[in-house]
Formats: sequence, C-alpha cells, structure tokens
Amino acid sequence: MKLKKLSWIAALALVVPFKTASAETATLVGSDTCIACHSEQAASFNSSNHGKKISVTKKVAADKTCESCHGAGSLHAAAAGDKTNAGFATIKNPTKTDSKETAKVCFTCHQEKATMLWNTSTHAQNGLTCTKCHSVHNGQGPKNLKKSANETCYQCHSKQKAEGKLPSHHPVDEDKMGCVSCHNPHGGPMGNLKGESVNETCFKCHAEKAGPFAHEHAPVTEGCTTCHKPHGSANASLLKQPEPYLCLRCHKWPHTETTNNANAESSTKIIDRARCTDCHSEIHGSDYKSTFKN
Ligand code: HEC
Ligand code: HEC
Ligand code: HEC
Ligand code: HEC
Ligand code: HEC
Ligand code: HEC
Ligand code: HEC
Ligand code: HEC
Ligand code: HEC
Ligand code: HEC
Repeated sequence: MKLKKLSWIAALALVVPFKTASAETATLVGSDTCIACHSEQAASFNSSNHGKKISVTKKVAADKTCESCHGAGSLHAAAAGDKTNAGFATIKNPTKTDSKETAKVCFTCHQEKATMLWNTSTHAQNGLTCTKCHSVHNGQGPKNLKKSANETCYQCHSKQKAEGKLPSHHPVDEDKMGCVSCHNPHGGPMGNLKGESVNETCFKCHAEKAGPFAHEHAPVTEGCTTCHKPHGSANASLLKQPEPYLCLRCHKWPHTETTNNANAESSTKIIDRARCTDCHSEIHGSDYKSTFKN
C-alpha cells in the first residue's frame, strides 16, 4: 500500500516537470528562425515602411524585429507548424487579438498625440483593432492604410458616404478634404471629432463664424449642428431644414407689430419672404445689429 502511494508520487514528480515544460514562457529566437519558414512575410515586411524604418528610428536590432510585434517565438518555432501543439498558438497575430491587446503592441512604439485617446474611443469600444484599417506588412495607401483614407471609412459608414452625394455637401468625394479633416478615427475629446467640440472642429476652416460678436445668435453658440448637417443635405448650405421653416422652429412669423410696419405688405406672405436671411444676413452673429441685419 505504502509502496503504491510512493510510486504515485514518483509518477507525479515525473509528470509535473513535464507539464511545466510545456507551459514554459517563450523566449526570443531571432528573425532568421522566423524567416526560414515565413520568407513571404519577411519580404513584405522588409519592403514596408516599418521594415525600412524600425531599425533606424526605434533602434530595434535587425534580428529582433519580427518578435517586437509577434512576441517571443521559441515555442511557436519549436511546434514546427503543428497547430495541435500548444506552443504553436503562443505567437501573436495582431489581427486576432482584441482591441486593447493589439493596441498595446502598437503602443510600444506609437505614442503620437493622434492615437492617445484610443482606448476610450467609439471605435475601440466597438471592438475595432488597429489592423482593421492599417496593415504593417501590406499598407498600400499613405499612413500604412490598407485603402485610401476615405475608402477606409466607407467600408463601414455607407450612410455618410451617401450623404456626401446630396446637393449640398462638404467636398470629400471631390478629394478637397477627407473624413479625417473633421474626425480622428483614434478618438477625440468628443466622440471621434478632431476639435474639443463640434464648433471648435468647424472653426478650423470657418474661423469667421467664431466671433466673439457684440450680438451672438444663441443657437450658433450652442452648436453649428443646431442648423447644419455636417455631411450633406438636400437643402442649400447644408441646412437641416430650408428657410423659413428652419427659423420658424424657434421664431414666430409674421414679425411683431412694430416690425410689421417696416414690412407692412409682405410680412404675412411667407412664400414671398422665404429667405429670412435676405434681411437677417448676419445670421451667425453681428457687431452692429442685435437683429443680425446689415
Ligand atoms: C518551422 C516553421 C516555422 C517557424 C520557425 C516559424 N513559424 Fe510562424 N507559422 C508557421 C506555420 C506553418 C504557420 C501557419 C501558417 C498558415 O496557417 O498559413 C505559422 C503561423 C504564424 C503566424 C500566424 C498565426 C495565427 O494565429 O494566425 C504568425 C504571426 C507567425 N507564424 C509568426 C512567426 C514568427 C514571428 C516566427 C519567428 C519567431 C515564426 N512564425 C516562426 C511556421 C513557422
Ligand atoms: C511592427 C509590427 C510587426 C513586425 C515588426 C512584424 N510583423 Fe508580422 N504582422 C504584423 C501585423 C499587424 C500582422 C497582421 C497583418 C498585417 O497587418 O499586415 C502580421 C502578420 C504576420 C503573419 C501572419 C500571416 C499574414 O500574412 O497575415 C506572419 C506569418 C508574420 N506577420 C510574420 C512576420 C515576420 C516573419 C516578421 C519579421 C520579418 C514580422 N512578421 C514582423 C505586425 C508585424
Ligand atoms: C517596434 C516599433 C514599432 C511597432 C511595435 C509598431 N510600429 Fe508602426 N511605425 C514604426 C516606425 C519606426 C514607423 C515609421 C515612422 C516614420 O516614418 O518616421 C512606423 C510607422 C507607422 C505608421 C505610419 C505613420 C505615418 O506617420 O505615416 C502607422 C500607421 C503605423 N506605424 C501603425 C502601426 C500599427 C497599427 C502597429 C501595431 C500593429 C505598429 N505600427 C507597431 C514603429 C513601430
Ligand atoms: C478606423 C480606422 C483606423 C483605426 C482602427 C486605426 N487607425 Fe490609425 N489612422 C487611420 C487613418 C485614416 C489615419 C490617417 C489620418 C490622417 O491622415 O489624418 C491614421 C493615422 C495613424 C498614424 C499616423 C498619425 C499621424 O499623426 O499622422 C498612426 C501612428 C496610427 N494611425 C496608428 C494607429 C494605431 C496604433 C491604431 C490602434 C491603436 C490605429 N492607428 C487605429 C485610421 C485608423
Ligand atoms: C470596421 C468598421 C469601421 C471602419 C473601417 C470605420 N468605422 Fe467609424 N465606426 C464604426 C462603428 C462600429 C462605430 C460605432 C457605431 C456607429 O456609430 O455606427 C463607428 C463610429 C464612428 C463615429 C461616431 C463616433 C461617435 O462617438 O459618435 C465616427 C465619427 C466615425 N466612426 C468615423 C470614422 C472614420 C472617419 C473612419 C475612417 C477613417 C471610420 N469611422 C472607419 C466602425 C467603423
Ligand atoms: C465638416 C466636418 C465633417 C466631415 C468632413 C465629416 N464629418 Fe462625420 N461628423 C461631423 C460632425 C460635426 C458630426 C456630429 C457630431 C455630433 O453632433 O456629436 C459627425 C458625425 C459622424 C458620425 C456619427 C453618426 C452621424 O452621422 O451623426 C459618423 C459615423 C461620421 N460622422 C462619419 C463620417 C465619415 C465616414 C465621413 C467621411 C465621409 C465624415 N464623417 C466626414 C463632422 C464631419
Ligand atoms: C477642413 C476644413 C473644413 C472644416 C473643418 C469644416 N468645413 Fe465647412 N466647408 C469647407 C469647404 C472646403 C467648403 C466648401 C466651400 C466651397 O465650396 O466654396 C465648406 C462649406 C461649408 C458650408 C456651405 C455648404 C454649401 O453647400 O454652400 C457650410 C454650411 C459648412 N461648410 C459648415 C460647416 C460646419 C457646420 C462645420 C463643422 C461641423 C464645417 N463646415 C467644418 C471646409 C471645412
Ligand atoms: C440658426 C441657424 C444656424 C446656425 C446655428 C449656424 N448657421 Fe451657418 N448658416 C445658416 C443659414 C441660414 C445659412 C445660409 C445663409 C444664406 O443662404 O445666406 C448658413 C450658411 C453657412 C455657411 C455658408 C455661407 C457662409 O456664410 O459662409 C457656412 C460656412 C456656415 N453657415 C457655417 C456655420 C458654422 C461654422 C456654424 C457654427 C459656428 C453655423 N454655421 C451655425 C444658419 C445657421
Ligand atoms: C434653435 C432655435 C433657433 C433657431 C433655429 C433660430 N433662432 Fe434666432 N434666436 C434664437 C434665440 C434663443 C434667440 C435669442 C433670444 C431672443 O431674442 O428671442 C434668437 C435671436 C434671433 C434674432 C434677434 C432677436 C431680437 O429680438 O433681437 C433674430 C433676428 C433671429 N434670431 C433670426 C433668426 C433667423 C432668421 C433664423 C433662421 C435662419 C433663426 N433665427 C433661427 C433661437 C433660434
Ligand atoms: C424684408 C426684410 C425681413 C425679412 C424677410 C424678415 N425680417 Fe425679421 N426683421 C426685419 C426687421 C426690419 C426687423 C426689425 C429690425 C430692427 O428693429 O432692427 C426684424 C426683426 C426680427 C426679429 C426680432 C424680434 C421681432 O419679432 O421683432 C426676429 C426674431 C425676426 N425678425 C425673425 C425673422 C424670421 C424668422 C424671418 C423669416 C421667416 C424674418 N425675420 C424675415 C426684417 C425682415
């Protein structure tokens, strides 16, 4: 009986070290080992932006490059392509790891301001990975993108692509600007916008609307998107509704009695006065008149 127990322990002692051996952490083997089996990926890598610059800019020794992203590869290499061997899957494929895990690999080198808010971004929260848009081995477009910047966005945002074809739109399709003129796909202080707010984003190009004005129009201060659509509209000037209905959401028509005197005839005929901004032309704010007239 005692002897039997002892032999069990002896057997266990034999098994345990064997088990820990297979759960051992991988160590670095160097790029030459990888290249022996992955000559195709090594070729694509070497001709990529990364392959050309990593050693120069980041001082990653040439024999350490592969494993700087894929992790230490001794167990994977020892598995010799046998997918049933537990060691095989210890190599990291950044297209298969989750959003944060992939980002962690990229962030070992990338601490650009543009990517700082990634983990809180709508994209990360919806499970997008860096490699959805970028390819390290085969980035075709600028910035190692798989496609041009706008095409990258259109893959998932067909609604905004369609809006860009409406009569009034920002010239994105015309290539005068891009989705990334207003958005940072890596996240921003407000959703995926580049600016601190909607208005700050618009002021980058429409600074003349920023004021401050002696007489501010409350909805403008509140946000450009109170009246405008950002991507496209069937109405002139990217408006959410055509005039005068846009204004009538918040204002009464006709004018009060005093102002009716000024427009005695026409004030009651909305059709004739479809454009409130014919008279209230400084609609974004004015230094002269509180009624935004010239
Ligand atoms: C003995 C050959 C061999 C060696 C050495 C080797 N690999 Fe592999 N590796 C393979 C095979 C086979 C596959 C599976 C390929 C397939 O499915 O098309 C693979 C797959 C991969 C994958 C994809 C894994 C996945 O889950 O999608 C990555 C990444 C990878 N290897 C990187 C490396 C790196 C980095 C090294 C060097 C540390 C390396 N390999 C060394 C044979 C090898
Ligand atoms: C800067 C990070 C990085 C470095 C360095 C790198 N890779 Fe990759 N590798 C990736 C990413 C990301 C992918 C996913 C496909 C892509 O983005 O191009 C990938 C995919 C792979 C795959 C999976 C099969 C495939 O084609 O998708 C293999 C195999 C591979 N790399 C091997 C290598 C080898 C060998 C080296 C060294 C010569 C290397 N990688 C260097 C990031 C890297
Ligand atoms: C070992 C360091 C290293 C790692 C890890 C790394 N990169 Fe890079 N990356 C670089 C270097 C170096 C450049 C070239 C920068 C330059 O042109 O000056 C670069 C360039 C880029 C660019 C183009 C930047 C530009 O301004 O044009 C993108 C996009 C990029 N990497 C994405 C990624 C992604 C996505 C990952 C993770 C899958 C990743 N990188 C992992 C070092 C790295
Ligand atoms: C939804 C698509 C998308 C995802 C996901 C994405 N990027 Fe980008 N990335 C872009 C686009 C588009 C650009 C070009 C932006 C521009 O030109 O203003 C870019 C630019 C970059 C640049 C260059 C920065 C610069 O200042 O010009 C780096 C570095 C980069 N990305 C790294 C990453 C990393 C790391 C991740 C994951 C944490 C990631 N990207 C995720 C689309 C994406
Ligand atoms: C792989 C799919 C995918 C790609 C590619 C992609 N997005 Fe997204 N995007 C999403 C998902 C999913 C959401 C969250 C749900 C939604 O609003 O549709 C989202 C949300 C957004 C939002 C709303 C953010 C918020 O907080 O309200 C903006 C803005 C955005 N994406 C811009 C872009 C831009 C710009 C590009 C191209 C550089 C891009 N996306 C590429 C999938 C994608
Ligand atoms: C002129 C600036 C601008 C351009 C260019 C632009 N957007 Fe937007 N986008 C915005 C603003 C502003 C919002 C609304 C943000 C808010 O109110 O929270 C928005 C919202 C979004 C949203 C959230 C859903 C929605 O429609 O409100 C997505 C997704 C989006 N944009 C994708 C894109 C894509 C894809 C492109 C390129 C075709 C693009 N945007 C071009 C300014 C812009
Ligand atoms: C990157 C620069 C840029 C940014 C940022 C930008 N715009 Fe524009 N905007 C343009 C350009 C370029 C035009 C077209 C001017 C032309 O065709 O003469 C335009 C035109 C317009 C028009 C007139 C459209 C028409 O059909 O006449 C409106 C309204 C407008 N933008 C509102 C906005 C709003 C609101 C924002 C913020 C959400 C914004 N813009 C952000 C560049 C920008
Ligand atoms: C109260 C509604 C309203 C708000 C809020 C508003 N706009 Fe406008 N905007 C208009 C109207 C109406 C027009 C058309 C004027 C015309 O046809 O003469 C217009 C036209 C424009 C134009 C094109 C003509 C021009 O004057 O250059 C731009 C650009 C513009 N708005 C930008 C902005 C920006 C940026 C904001 C936010 C700071 C904003 N708008 C907020 C009502 C508004
Ligand atoms: C989202 C609501 C909203 C929209 C839309 C709007 N306004 Fe206003 N407007 C206000 C508010 C709030 C004030 C300031 C309070 C007040 O004096 O009634 C104001 C003030 C004014 C004034 C000055 C009133 C005074 O007594 O000095 C004029 C004129 C005016 N708006 C014209 C317009 C015109 C024209 C449009 C359409 C292009 C328009 N507004 C669209 C909310 C709006
Ligand atoms: C023919 C020119 C003209 C047109 C068109 C016009 N207004 Fe006026 N509006 C005036 C004048 C004049 C005043 C009084 C201005 C003053 O006292 O400085 C005024 C005053 C206002 C005021 C200030 C409060 C009030 O009721 O007295 C508001 C709000 C207003 N207009 C909104 C509108 C809206 C909304 C439209 C379009 C439906 C519109 N206006 C079209 C000329 C016009």
